[in-house]
Amino acid sequence: MNPSHHAARRAALAQHLGPQGIAIVPTAPEQQRNRDSDFLYRHDSYFYYLSGFSEPRAWLVITGDGKTTLFCQPKDLEREIWDGVRLGPDAAPAALHIDAAYPVTALDAHMPGLLDGRDAVWFPFATHKGLETQVDGWLNTLRARVRFGALCPQQQRDLCGPLDEMRLTKDAAEQDTMRRACAISAEGHVRAMQTCARMLREGKEVREYHLDAELLHAFRAGGSQYPAYGSIVAAGANACVLHYRADAGLVRSGDLVLIDAGCELDGYASDITRTFPANGKFTGPQRALYELVLASQHAAVAATRAGARFTDPHEATVKVLAQGMLDVGLLNKNTVGTLDDVIEKRAYFQFYMHRTGHWLGMDVHDCGAYTEPTELGIRHERKDALTGETLVNRPARILQPGMVLTIEPGIYVRPAPGVPEQFHHIGIRIEDDAIVTATGCELISRGVPVEVGAIEALMRG
Ligand code: GLY
Ligand code: MN
Ligand code: MN
Repeated sequence: MNPSHHAARRAALAQHLGPQGIAIVPTAPEQQRNRDSDFLYRHDSYFYYLSGFSEPRAWLVITGDGKTTLFCQPKDLEREIWDGVRLGPDAAPAALHIDAAYPVTALDAHMPGLLDGRDAVWFPFATHKGLETQVDGWLNTLRARVRFGALCPQQQRDLCGPLDEMRLTKDAAEQDTMRRACAISAEGHVRAMQTCARMLREGKEVREYHLDAELLHAFRAGGSQYPAYGSIVAAGANACVLHYRADAGLVRSGDLVLIDAGCELDGYASDITRTFPANGKFTGPQRALYELVLASQHAAVAATRAGARFTDPHEATVKVLAQGMLDVGLLNKNTVGTLDDVIEKRAYFQFYMHRTGHWLGMDVHDCGAYTEPTELGIRHERKDALTGETLVNRPARILQPGMVLTIEPGIYVRPAPGVPEQFHHIGIRIEDDAIVTATGCELISRGVPVEVGAIEALMRG
């Protein structure tokens, strides 16, 4: 992404800080895996959003007048031989379109001076371990100088508020990156489906990790840095474990396989789920439930447009799924009653226990309020039908063009008394990523098909 995009975001953020405000944004720490090995490094999303800079041990300081100071790793030939090239403070201003840069070793020396005379200090609350203590330390140092004329900020404010709102609506460059991330992920899903059917046709043993390998190959071959989250590759009954990971389960001909996997590209996540028959041909019961989940997804897609509420796609999904559960006999109308009863009492929850979507962006479960900020005063209480708990509901977010969310209905059938045996252990989810537009939404993850006929055709090829 062009550094001018990040500069524009910093300028927009500065408007929220007030003329005398100051914001402090650290990137993510490195995490030790064991002894000399670290986990693969991943920058902090807020930091990257504002800087486009992905080196560890870096801080941004932005003042209300829009000036930005970066603290970053100093050039160090010996460390660079081991760990790679560092941008360094001398090159940073031109490369990142910032005003000043210093070595991160000078952070403690500079911060009290930068805070002097500011009225409010903004930083992300409850996201960086120890950050509050660090800010306290700088404020204490400054307070020790008040007799010599220093002025200490009177307020600490949560920077997540304005940043979450900014990140919720994706600009054209972000949308473009997300479309490309989805295209790479879709390619991974296609490869996994085709490999699965081909290996079974060739009489080979297929394990979940064989399919995971296809995903990883496509992600890296497409230029993605890493998966956006732990890939789920779940064969047969494993699909009913919602947070199952790609493991060593045997993929049997006749099973369904659920893959929930998406790559991260240049800091942006994709999040796609497909469920397909391992041998390329749905059985009757598998197809019946698959068509039901797909119909519920169509209803959710139709409910996704600017002006609708975030909860509208979920409610549309639930209506279709609940009716379908009654129709196919997953729910017995003599026991659970009418469609309205099923929804009111949440009887569908036995087979559909998650929500239909979430914001998607730099983080797979991206930031952004799910309640409508212009209607915060409105609230109503209700008793949950299943738990009896009293819940406070506020009006759900009104969708705006440029917001990006997932649409991911599912059905997960665990054996239980009264549940028809033909559906036992079937787990299905279909997940697509949608950019909200003025009149509807753009599905950016359909590089891998969802219709039964298209999946079967793809797997024959
Ligand atoms: N892969 C995480 C999710 O679907 O929410
Ligand atoms: Mn998701
Ligand atoms: Mn997912």
